Amino acid sequence: MKEGIPVPAPIASMPGVSQHTLESLVKEARELVSRGISGVLLFAVPGHKDASGSQAGDPAGISQRGLTALKEELGDDAVVIADLCLCEYTSHGHCGVLDGAWVDNDATLERYEQIAVAQARAGADIVAPSGMMDGQVGAIRAALDDAGFTDTVILAYTAKYASSFYGPFRDAAEGAPQFGDRRSYQQDPANLDEATREAALDVAEGADALMVKPATHYLDVLRAIKDRFGLPTAAYNVSGEYSMLMAAAQRGWIDERAATLETLTAIRRAGADLIVTYHAKKAAEWLS
Ligand code: PBG
Ligand code: ZN
Repeated sequence: MKEGIPVPAPIASMPGVSQHTLESLVKEARELVSRGISGVLLFAVPGHKDASGSQAGDPAGISQRGLTALKEELGDDAVVIADLCLCEYTSHGHCGVLDGAWVDNDATLERYEQIAVAQARAGADIVAPSGMMDGQVGAIRAALDDAGFTDTVILAYTAKYASSFYGPFRDAAEGAPQFGDRRSYQQDPANLDEATREAALDVAEGADALMVKPATHYLDVLRAIKDRFGLPTAAYNVSGEYSMLMAAAQRGWIDERAATLETLTAIRRAGADLIVTYHAKKAAEWLS
């Protein structure tokens, strides 16, 4: 969803996916749920960005308005998940607040705590912290509990790799870093042990569910985390995975339906209890 657009804006690099207005967001969510989708994950692009990403936690901001509208529309028919990060809201595009050229981990945690409470208050059933700061799950859990939101679920991005497959999303969410990259806070694709270590920390800090991102190139990570912790395990089939498949399908080089269902089947086979995917709408139709 994007603030200030009069009509939905198609995302060129993600055929079939649009930035929504508040109105079209609610309509699209209803459509998805009517096809059997059990939850929606909201990203919002604010009209105004600043260094601390203040719009992310503003109770009257676009993100909270979207969450409330979704919850009012969907009620108990589906869960509403809030992406909890700063990169769409900061003028510099990093996932945290900066101290010079570096992300200030602890100052960022304070921002995440406030945002989590605002999101829960707005109607989010689940918050999904995606910024990969150290200690984020514990800090958010404590803040939610203190504010009385003991039932709000934390879906932790446990293994989020510094991947080249996020490109199209950064256009869609308008949150590309304006300088540097995210390698100081995202994980090294060559490393599996780091993922299981991070997962153990997230579990100890109170994560209710664990997410691996991206999905298809990290199926071994997904399986390892599922087997080791036994928590509900999610996989995020990211924008670049979607765009590659769609680009080939549009050229007639692969069959969209068969390739999509094969991809989702593989992610499921590797242990995913929940899949976040841009293919959701069509896949639900094909599977019904
Ligand atoms: C950042 C964030 C990213 C995605 C969602 N939130 C990645 C990034 O820019 O580092 C990627 C999602 C996708 O590619 O579909 N918090
Ligand atoms: Zn981010």
